[in-house]
Amino acid sequence: MEKPTKRILSGVQPSGDLHLGNYLGAIKNFVSLQEEYECFFCVVDLHAITVWQDPKVLANKTREVTAAFIASGINPNKNNIFVQSQVPQHAQLGWLFNCVARMGWLNRMTQFKDKAGKNSENVSVGLFSYPTLMAADILIYLATHVPVGDDQKQHLELTRDIAQKFNNDFKTDFFPIPEPLIFGEATRVMSLRDGSKKMSKSDPSDYSRIMLTDSAEKISQKIKKAKTDPLPLPDNLDDLKSRSEALNLISIFASLHDTSLEKIVAEYAGKEFSLFKRDLVDLAVSKLEPITSEMNKIMDDQEYLESVLNNGKESAISVAEPVLAKTKEIIGFLS
Ligand code: AMP
Ligand code: TRP
Repeated sequence: MEKPTKRILSGVQPSGDLHLGNYLGAIKNFVSLQEEYECFFCVVDLHAITVWQDPKVLANKTREVTAAFIASGINPNKNNIFVQSQVPQHAQLGWLFNCVARMGWLNRMTQFKDKAGKNSENVSVGLFSYPTLMAADILIYLATHVPVGDDQKQHLELTRDIAQKFNNDFKTDFFPIPEPLIFGEATRVMSLRDGSKKMSKSDPSDYSRIMLTDSAEKISQKIKKAKTDPLPLPDNLDDLKSRSEALNLISIFASLHDTSLEKIVAEYAGKEFSLFKRDLVDLAVSKLEPITSEMNKIMDDQEYLESVLNNGKESAISVAEPVLAKTKEIIGFLS
């Protein structure tokens, strides 16, 4: 089997509306990588159902993430965009990896601990074994690189451990050891209400995050209400790093503007937050509004969306099937 040297896989869950963290931490980076890599972008609905999803809205959320990929600039004619549950090889390899990964490895996953909280006896088994499925998502394509936000670093390390253990156990070099691609000035976008918490779909406060579906007015309100501290903006990176809310807003600015943190710090040194926020509103609206309106247009064309996902499914299966077959042969299953 021919092994790719520059192949990307990444996934986004259809578990709620997409927010600025998803865009800056992941999707925007996907767009910049599509020229250089062969890419597989997956809407990971099997991951989404590790927590309850309303069947009445799941299908639409799945289409929405697809539309967001395309509206953000991922070219569906050059990249594979598809839905995880439509490519059965993910779940099949996921089971095989459940038998490779060790309980001790999964017990260390901080995302599980955060999500399960005090309720760990009553969450789904899927929420616990989630990272083994994520490893399967990546390795079923023999992907070599995985662009993600900073919060997925630990899951990527687990993927590498699984690939390594499989290769060692079966004395093969079949699976690549994939590299995380975590880059840009906003690898971890924080809540607008609390600079110590990650911006997330599950935060109860709508004002904690900017959605890709927010109107210009909503974006403006949310940024104006964003928590800050009473000092003017700092003039150096060291001071900035000790002020979580300022750091978050400046990182968002730098990432949206495609400029370095240093340059934005220099530009706003000693200025008041009110002025900075006004500029951030203008910048965020100018960058996000075209994406939102394109997303709406694509969502109105269900036939087009379906054709993109059908093509994506077929090309994904054509790569995944032989990898699964080879894995089963290595394990010793009858063909
Ligand atoms: P999810 O919505 O959990 O499926 O996340 C999809 C992608 O967005 C993953 O690559 C995450 O690492 C990334 N992501 C999610 N939240 C954030 C955040 N607050 N900051 C940066 N990246 C994020
Ligand atoms: N676990 C990722 C998240 O919560 C989503 C995901 C699932 C993923 N499978 C993946 C990301 C494979 C990268 C590669 O954000």
